[in-house]
Amino acid sequence: MGKPVTLYLVCAILAFWSTVYLVNADDPYRYYTWTVTYGTRSPLGFPQEVILINGEFPGPKLEVVTNDNIILNLINQLNQPFLLTWNGINQRKNSWQDGVLGTNCPVPPNSNYTYKFQAKDQIGTYTYFPSTLMHRAAGAFGALNILQRSVISIPYPEPDGDFTLLIGDWYKYKYNHKVLQQRLDAGKDMPFPNGVLINGEAHPSFSGDQGKTYMFRISNIGFKTSLNFRIQNHKMKLVEVEGSHVIQNAYDSLDVHMGQSVTVLVTFNQPAKDYYIVASTRFTKEVLTATAVLHYTNSKTAVSGPLPTGPEPEDVAWSLNQAKTFRWNLTANAARPNPQGSYHYGTIKITKTFVLANSVPVINRKQRYAVNGVSYVNPSTPLKLADYFNIPGVFSLDSITSYPSGVSPHYGVSVLPTSLHDFMEVVYQNNGTSLQTWHLDGYNFWVVGYGAGQWTQASRTTYNLEDALARHTTQVYPESWTAILVSLDNQGMWNLRSAEWGKQYLGQQVYVRVYDPIKSLANEYDIPTNVLLCGEAVGKHP
Ligand SMILES: *[C@@H]1O[C@H](CO)[C@@H](O)[C@H](O)[C@H]1NC(C)=O
Ligand SMILES: *[C@@H]1O[C@H](CO)[C@@H](O)[C@H](O)[C@H]1NC(C)=O
Ligand SMILES: *[C@@H]1O[C@H](CO)[C@@H](O)[C@H](O)[C@H]1NC(C)=O
Repeated sequence: MGKPVTLYLVCAILAFWSTVYLVNADDPYRYYTWTVTYGTRSPLGFPQEVILINGEFPGPKLEVVTNDNIILNLINQLNQPFLLTWNGINQRKNSWQDGVLGTNCPVPPNSNYTYKFQAKDQIGTYTYFPSTLMHRAAGAFGALNILQRSVISIPYPEPDGDFTLLIGDWYKYKYNHKVLQQRLDAGKDMPFPNGVLINGEAHPSFSGDQGKTYMFRISNIGFKTSLNFRIQNHKMKLVEVEGSHVIQNAYDSLDVHMGQSVTVLVTFNQPAKDYYIVASTRFTKEVLTATAVLHYTNSKTAVSGPLPTGPEPEDVAWSLNQAKTFRWNLTANAARPNPQGSYHYGTIKITKTFVLANSVPVINRKQRYAVNGVSYVNPSTPLKLADYFNIPGVFSLDSITSYPSGVSPHYGVSVLPTSLHDFMEVVYQNNGTSLQTWHLDGYNFWVVGYGAGQWTQASRTTYNLEDALARHTTQVYPESWTAILVSLDNQGMWNLRSAEWGKQYLGQQVYVRVYDPIKSLANEYDIPTNVLLCGEAVGKHP
């Protein structure tokens, strides 16, 4: 009879220790100090103001191992409040560290905040970027690579080396981040970008040995446009997408939408010369292109010939068909040594459904973006803190409907109410003529269906309930829908947003409150002792 009690005690003690030591004292700690300043760079050939981290543009590459604890002191030397978010880091039980305005107060100028989080059970290619104002248009973004622990086997041979490529559209000096912000605040939409950069440059070079195989970690860190990525005369074998190991198909080119990451292997199996690497905009009338060089170390021949061609710029069907080939490898490990397919997501009963339809309304003569009629505005008190301190009036749980309704578009603070352990279905209904990209913080979700026109309950019969890809950001094609399933096992306040930063800024975002009425450290860590307070949380005692 004593056993259950003992077990209970052990669990309680473990839970206690896990909060004291963040998660697991055995997992290594990595310490960083990052100072954020303005600087000048000329990525498009003319000097412009950018945002640097420790003097670097883009910011430093953060390279850690699964389960590492990251203690990162962020020192803000800009003249504006600043915050970083960790794109795709699940922040298990720890939405306190998510670094968006619904969870954290921004770090005031000439001040600092120390993030404490763990790369818990994650593996793969991720990014970080500023979540405040239009800072992302000026830099301070970077790569966040999580390598597997030595005890974990990965479903491909260890590559001979790896390259990280942050690809993204870019604005010239005329569209400084403050100018962009003023423009959006004044009710105008984002302008068309002026170029595409790879790692903050227009023409970088990547060098490797003939006969060897290299990993390329590619993330679209841009603002507005999907990109097609390709390498002249070389196939890319897809191995990982946002933390999932996939069926390893070979591709001539890959569409990477805003906020997404893919990891491929490229064998340098061609004659010794230099080859073009191309990232070009998709679904745009004018095509912007970045060209980099893949250099064989024994090459004496410069790049030549026409640039490798991708799909027709406006060919949406091509992109959709490619997306359908991205499948979970059901027998591969993920961060833990169990096959991904041992989790039968297709057999779990859906307990919560949201259908989120976008619209592009004009409210008070200003161009806005809305979800089910509500155009999100950030309250001055982060939702997470309002929830914790029971501050009334910051948000309500009936601010947005679960399905599109006929409400006239208005400003609001949209929070979708859910319970811990709900199994949630979200359908993104895109009535518009441009592609959307949606990101959910705190989770990976299964992208179970893409369909044309209007989603109906009958659309569920088309879902892939076997081997859909689990990822953190999905595209939604024009005049189409995308459906995702997600197991809400991570308590907290989580941002669900357009990964197209201008749309997000103009209201295309909501928060998902994953709630349990019983406070338990087993479900959620306590408020950090160094929490920054702002808005109506000022003066409260954590
Ligand atoms: C700011 O940095 C100092 C160390 O220099 C640290 O002790 C302090 O906790 C940091 N402030 C916050 C709010 O994290
Ligand atoms: C899936 O993963 C297994 C296990 O690591 C690997 O052997 C296999 O080649 C992979 N299958 C495909 C189709 O990529
Ligand atoms: C989307 O378009 C359909 C078909 O035209 C229409 O019935 C529906 O009301 C639209 N939804 C929104 C949110 O605009």
